[in-house]
Amino acid sequence: MAEAGRAKPVEGVHEISAITYGFMASKALFSALEFDLFTHIARGADTTRALAEDAGIAENRLLTLLAALKSLGLVSETGGRLVNAPATSRYLVAGAPGDFRDYVRFVNGAFGYESFRHLDEALRGERVFPDKGFYEGLAYEGGIGGERFSSAQHTGSLGPARLMAKRVDLKDRRKLLDVGGGSGAYSIAFCAANPQLSATILDFPQTVETAKRYVREAALADRITNLAGNAVAVDWPGGHDVILMSYVWSAVGEADIAVLAKRAAAALPPGGLLLIHDFMVDDAREGPRFAAWYLLGSMLDNPSAVCLTPAYVERVLRDAGLRIENTETMLPGITMLTKAVKTPA
Ligand SMILES: C[S@@+](CC[C@H](N)C(=O)[O-])C[C@H]1O[C@@H](n2cnc3c(N)ncnc32)[C@H](O)[C@@H]1O
Repeated sequence: MAEAGRAKPVEGVHEISAITYGFMASKALFSALEFDLFTHIARGADTTRALAEDAGIAENRLLTLLAALKSLGLVSETGGRLVNAPATSRYLVAGAPGDFRDYVRFVNGAFGYESFRHLDEALRGERVFPDKGFYEGLAYEGGIGGERFSSAQHTGSLGPARLMAKRVDLKDRRKLLDVGGGSGAYSIAFCAANPQLSATILDFPQTVETAKRYVREAALADRITNLAGNAVAVDWPGGHDVILMSYVWSAVGEADIAVLAKRAAAALPPGGLLLIHDFMVDDAREGPRFAAWYLLGSMLDNPSAVCLTPAYVERVLRDAGLRIENTETMLPGITMLTKAVKTPA
């Protein structure tokens, strides 16, 4: 399979096996993080015996997990010493520069892995939670919990948020409304990069305390405020000249997408900027693969979820009365950003 564009057709049964066994590899990684194996190795528990003791897993069972992790190139063993692979050290060890263990463990593991068990029901148009979406049902009211989920989301959003703040010029903007802003990663990154900017984070009440904590830690409490509520139901505050929705359209259904676009168009002043950042596949809907796979999850949240493409996003924004500036790749192979402007009436 190619990273982007049309995939090479599979030719052998091995390639089919790689797909069918893929979930086992994912789960091996989630479990390794549950026991924080890579952090224990980095801190010196680099023999199987020492690691078994520090992680609290019997040595025979640990050997089986380690075999799977070695087969994936996440760790290796030389002369009886376990060594984390370079990317493992950079991203999957406590305190490492790119540490996003909690995103992998809770957002992809606890939330994504559990959600995907229901994919067949979702394809039949059945709702897992009859009266609510997956965020409320599983992440906030289910076993994961709002605080833990939003914190985990934060570890995955920080890097992309800083990247977007570098790439999108907001130096002439004064106030950002971050709809579905979650932990506030994007508001924090944009405000840190633009000293004149302040922001409002609008999200479900379960996320507010987490967002407040990160905002305080970033010393931005005087410039970033919160509004708790359902973005399709509460009144949006006025006075914002830029509105962001990051990973929100993939979390709601088609009807809500149209409502959110219209609400954004109504809330912006002429010249106001709307940013839609999300998983999007190309217009031919052939990939890239991570975006395509992630979008499967959106129909678990809502049977009327959409397979987002640049053409679709731009059409909805045009229908809401906005002028499209462009759609560009943000995280290569994963996300895109569409910019649209409110034209004078
Ligand atoms: C994948 S998270 C993204 C969070 C944040 N925008 C980011 O990129 O880090 C999606 C967020 O949208 C929020 N959300 C989904 N539907 C919503 C709705 N109807 N009203 C308010 N927030 C919503 C969720 O609570 C969650 O925080």
